[in-house]
Amino acid sequence: MTQEKRASLTAVMVAALRAEASAWPDAICHDPWAAQLAGEEGLRYAERSKRSFPPMALWLAVRTAYIDAHVRHFIEHAGTQVVLLGAGLDTRAQRLAHPNVSFYEVDTPQSSQHKQTQLQRLDGYPLDAATYVTCNFEHQDPIERLQRAGFSTELPAFFVWEGVTYYLTEEAVRATVRSFAEQAHPQSLLLFDIFSKRFVRADTGQQGDRESVQMVEDMGEPFRWGTNDPLPLLFEEGLRYVDITRFDEACLALTGSYERERMFRFQSFVLCAKQVPSILPPLHSVQK
Ligand SMILES: C[S@@+](CC[C@H](N)C(=O)[O-])C[C@H]1O[C@@H](n2cnc3c(N)ncnc32)[C@H](O)[C@@H]1O
Repeated sequence: MTQEKRASLTAVMVAALRAEASAWPDAICHDPWAAQLAGEEGLRYAERSKRSFPPMALWLAVRTAYIDAHVRHFIEHAGTQVVLLGAGLDTRAQRLAHPNVSFYEVDTPQSSQHKQTQLQRLDGYPLDAATYVTCNFEHQDPIERLQRAGFSTELPAFFVWEGVTYYLTEEAVRATVRSFAEQAHPQSLLLFDIFSKRFVRADTGQQGDRESVQMVEDMGEPFRWGTNDPLPLLFEEGLRYVDITRFDEACLALTGSYERERMFRFQSFVLCAKQVPSILPPLHSVQK
């Protein structure tokens, strides 16, 4: 069954990994809801992912903490809208809630419905922390869908696109970036993560990477898009500010540690915008 037909399993898996990382004594991310949202199914997939890629929970912790720091930074500097593209079971709308900030969660109808059903089961989770917007990036325009739900293109917004681009076709990645470039307020920011071409093609020479690629295929969410340099695509779609940070660099900033064997070098974060942002979040700002 494909992603079009049912809620995302990779979203459930990453929630389980986030729960695991949140329980570490030296945790760099804190998601108190993740374990309940992931459930048994999430745990099973998380265990499988770690057999192929042992530092998977640390990798996910870095991803969560790095993005959290950027969202917080944006909110502190008076940003009033945060959009989570491909939100999955992300709980930032509650964890990073601020009285002046509206959160929008964009996802496929199936994943969005699954999320809302799961949230209803949580004791104390405010369902109205976010406005839920359905959109399939393969054939729908996210900003158009957001505007129908109350999102304003007259105000700057921070767009998070976490753990999503590699499941999309290049056409969908381009269309989503174009939608952001053409319609979002020019002081808006878009932050997403990417995998290298070799990684999504299972061509890194690592058996574990081949298993990871096979695992997401088995889950019905195969990798489709990888890039070694997203700058040309982002420039062609109208963006004029691009800042790329490798996972190794983010992990070093957040944990002070580096291990070559972790193989975090095939993944990067991309922060981009239509123009140079007036508030630049430097990498060291992610350190707490
Ligand atoms: C690995 S999950 C990441 C979820 C969340 N961002 C996180 O990091 O916890 C991938 C998410 O992308 C969404 N997604 C995948 N393909 C999509 C598409 N074509 N349109 C909209 N959302 C999509 C899935 O529904 C799922 O929620």
